[in-house]
Amino acid sequence: MAKSMVSTSSGLAPLPTSRNSLSSLKSGQLAFPSHRICSKRLNSTGRCEPPVRKIVCACTAPPRNWNDGSAIQFNDTPVSEVEHLSREPEDDSDVLIECRNVHKSFGEKQILKGISFKIRHGEAVGIIGPSGTGKSTVLKIMAGLLAPDEGEVRIRGRKRHGLISDEEISGLRIGLVFQSAALFDSLTVRENVGFPLYEHSNMPEDQIAELVTENLAAVGLKGVEDRLPSELSGGMKKRVALARSIILDNSKEAVEPEVLLYDEPTAGLDPIASTVVEDLIRSVHLKGKDALGKPGNITSYVVVTHQHSTIRRAVDRLIFLYEGQIVWQGMTHEFATSSNPIVRQFASGSLDGPIKY
Ligand SMILES: Nc1ncnc2c1ncn2[C@@H]1O[C@H](COP(=O)(O)OP(=O)(O)OP(=O)(O)O)[C@@H](O)[C@H]1O
Ligand SMILES: [Mg+2]
Repeated sequence: MAKSMVSTSSGLAPLPTSRNSLSSLKSGQLAFPSHRICSKRLNSTGRCEPPVRKIVCACTAPPRNWNDGSAIQFNDTPVSEVEHLSREPEDDSDVLIECRNVHKSFGEKQILKGISFKIRHGEAVGIIGPSGTGKSTVLKIMAGLLAPDEGEVRIRGRKRHGLISDEEISGLRIGLVFQSAALFDSLTVRENVGFPLYEHSNMPEDQIAELVTENLAAVGLKGVEDRLPSELSGGMKKRVALARSIILDNSKEAVEPEVLLYDEPTAGLDPIASTVVEDLIRSVHLKGKDALGKPGNITSYVVVTHQHSTIRRAVDRLIFLYEGQIVWQGMTHEFATSSNPIVRQFASGSLDGPIKY
């Protein structure tokens, strides 16, 4: 699998160019397919500078509840108690993305009611919670596709103003794998998966085609390169979208950390396909290893999921969202044993409990 990073320069949905058959894409068919969103640190000459990396291993950092609510539980112990007992001076030099008191409404409907959390260098974080609670909205806000109504998003310590843009001085690339596959309907699987490289690299087409085949194989797909999305099952489309999110320009050296946000990557997949995807998500992480034993390039990732297998296999820390607030945070292994009634109900799927449908 390709292991170095593609350096993209556009912001949202990259438009196809005339470089190749992508030019056949009709306008109006760009239903927001971009998955890799780039922002760069620019120097005074407009050149891209390597980011200053000050890395503190994040995975061993204890999870904290950054919400202000004193009633909110962390590891089933009140936050104030945890902080009183164990709080150390915070080192935020490894924080890549921070949401601070983020609010978001759609019309009259308040979806996010002041959520705060940090994604640190090296972390594998899951966001869980009932349907319609705002998980996808959080990912879009982190990716810079939606702006919060109140509160702020900080990228490597710098406040983002509005939506993501090429000018953003952040030194962090953020990719989003949409809940719906968001493939280009009129492009083949090969063109869809190779899209970031056709658009943003100088790689020859046969090399891109080779990488496409490798990345499709990594998500368990073979011989589908020439098919159109309409000729694939829902689960296959999902895996094609995933292959597109991890394809990287292996002719370049990685210069910036990258965070991938996966929105329900295993929803609709059979158990074995889910395992393939969960292992793939781990293997592209810098703390993971590919088939050759090399570490992956994704610095940190966030996975929104409802699936227990994905929670168990693909993430280390969990954030539980309910009714627009973070109601619980903890390590994955603490999820199953938590006595928090919301967590217990969610974990067991019971109809009895505080979550009402
Ligand atoms: N662009 C939008 N315009 C209006 N309402 C929206 C928009 N996006 C999301 N919503 C509403 O915001 C709420 C949260 O949506 P969101 O997609 O974030 O939920 P979710 O937690 O991801 O749910 P699921 O688990 O079903 O995917 C829903 O009530 C949804 O209808
Ligand atoms: Mg969603």
